[in-house]
Amino acid sequence: MDMPIETKEGALMLCAKYQDALRWVIYQIYPRSFMDSNGDGIGDLQGIIQKLDYLKDLGVNAIWLCPCYKSPNDDNGYDISDYRDIMDEFGTMADMEALIDVLHSRGMKLIMDLVPNHTSTAHRWFRESRKDKDNPYSDFYYWFDEKPNDWKSVFRGSAWEFDPVRGQYYLHSFAVSQADLNWDNPAVVKAMQEIVDFWIDKGVDGFRVDVVDMISKDLGAGKNCFGPRLHEFIHALFGRENGKNLFTVGECWVTDTDEMIRHCAAERQELTTLFQFDHIEKCGRSDKFSPKPDTLKTLRDHLLHWQQETEKHDLLNTLFTDNHDQPPMISRIANDREKRYESATCVAAMVYLLKGVPFIYQGQEIGRAAAHYDSIECFNDIETINTYRDFCQTMPEKEALERINFGSRDNARHPMEWDGSENGGFTTGKPWIALHSRYREINVKKDLAAERSVYRFYQALLKLRRENDAFLDGKVEALSSPDDAHMIFTRTLNGEKWAVICNFESEQRIELPFACEKPALSNLGRASMNGVYAPYECAVAKVIAGE
Ligand code: GLC
Ligand code: CA
Repeated sequence: MDMPIETKEGALMLCAKYQDALRWVIYQIYPRSFMDSNGDGIGDLQGIIQKLDYLKDLGVNAIWLCPCYKSPNDDNGYDISDYRDIMDEFGTMADMEALIDVLHSRGMKLIMDLVPNHTSTAHRWFRESRKDKDNPYSDFYYWFDEKPNDWKSVFRGSAWEFDPVRGQYYLHSFAVSQADLNWDNPAVVKAMQEIVDFWIDKGVDGFRVDVVDMISKDLGAGKNCFGPRLHEFIHALFGRENGKNLFTVGECWVTDTDEMIRHCAAERQELTTLFQFDHIEKCGRSDKFSPKPDTLKTLRDHLLHWQQETEKHDLLNTLFTDNHDQPPMISRIANDREKRYESATCVAAMVYLLKGVPFIYQGQEIGRAAAHYDSIECFNDIETINTYRDFCQTMPEKEALERINFGSRDNARHPMEWDGSENGGFTTGKPWIALHSRYREINVKKDLAAERSVYRFYQALLKLRRENDAFLDGKVEALSSPDDAHMIFTRTLNGEKWAVICNFESEQRIELPFACEKPALSNLGRASMNGVYAPYECAVAKVIAGE
């Protein structure tokens, strides 16, 4: 493992591996909803291959693919029945190998989604395990005669399910058909290492690790995550010689700086980086299904907090606002109606010009906003359906539906809106889930033809980042005070300094304390960095040397 090294003047001491990772721009694909190549209404691997030019042109150089392993699909692929095979609807292993080859031939990388906490109950390990108490797989899962505690499933209801075949209860932190693996059994650790090796041999460049914080538990202490052996297990997966060049990003829900250091400090040889969810959980909502009025200040403050913490401790930050589990950030915290273009571009500048690895979720680059439906029939997600059922016990259906519309993960899972035609250009068949309720207004074709295009702003932003190392390694300094309704920061490297101004909800005059060149990037075509800023206006310029 590389140890931290001195870098160019003004830069931080990120180790060489992390310096390389700063150059990655990762686009997250939800395969089921990205592009259907054969008209069955379901996105697939060949569909992704068809759209690689679109992604390359955007300026991304890596893809994180949500699970595409064999799966009964109760949780859209996060319930895996075979980690070494491809979901029938998505294609074949030959399609996957073709995808890896095409990506690599274009200088792009592939990150797979690894789901180590649970398997589908249709997985061979579980089918063997449930047979009796003395088979080789009997201890692969958590089995008890009586429920040992009252843990709840993330998807509602008890986390313990009685299995009549074995006559015992097993643990499922998510759906009933997602049984938690027992990592205290060394055979589980070994089996998961072999799966990682299988995919390394196929040529993948890294992994996004699903709910990684849950693989060690302490049932006695009532902890279903962050258990005592967590770091030993992560190290066992990625601290090995053949794991050392992988890019790994963990999904880590409950975390603070110390926890991040334990997961990601270079010398620990665990993860390259992780997703923490402070800003996701706190911007524009009081809980997942309850909106809260908010401003961009909340987002700014969380972003800057983690920026400072990661810089201070020489860690690699992740830059993201959206994913397949979250309704679009711009709908929660900005104006996704009259100022949708401005909101989408301003939030992009706030997030992606900071220091870290950008993750762009499909549709963000065209300013996708939250959807809205009048019927629960338009939803598909297991968490959504279970939550709706629970809500209907305690509130009128109409209110339940409003809350579902606000928080449902399906907000991020509608077919990618390629154009405004009947099926949104996603499929020639019947889409597996409702098209986005605003797809005729928000789609790729329309955005690219618009005078003000979110895609082209993203493209220009990523180009700026790529061509100026200050946006990669440069030190971040925030100039806004907590009460200011803007986010102003500079990025400095080797004496070269850039300024970024993102104005929030109201028009206001902004003057910088130093002189700048003409803006190199601006969402409303500004000629100068100083002056009156419109709502959600943003601009970026080089600071004139000596200033
Ligand atoms: C993660 C995934 C989510 C999935 C869950 C269970 O949170 O992002 O989509 O349902 O883990 O695997
Ligand atoms: Ca298909």
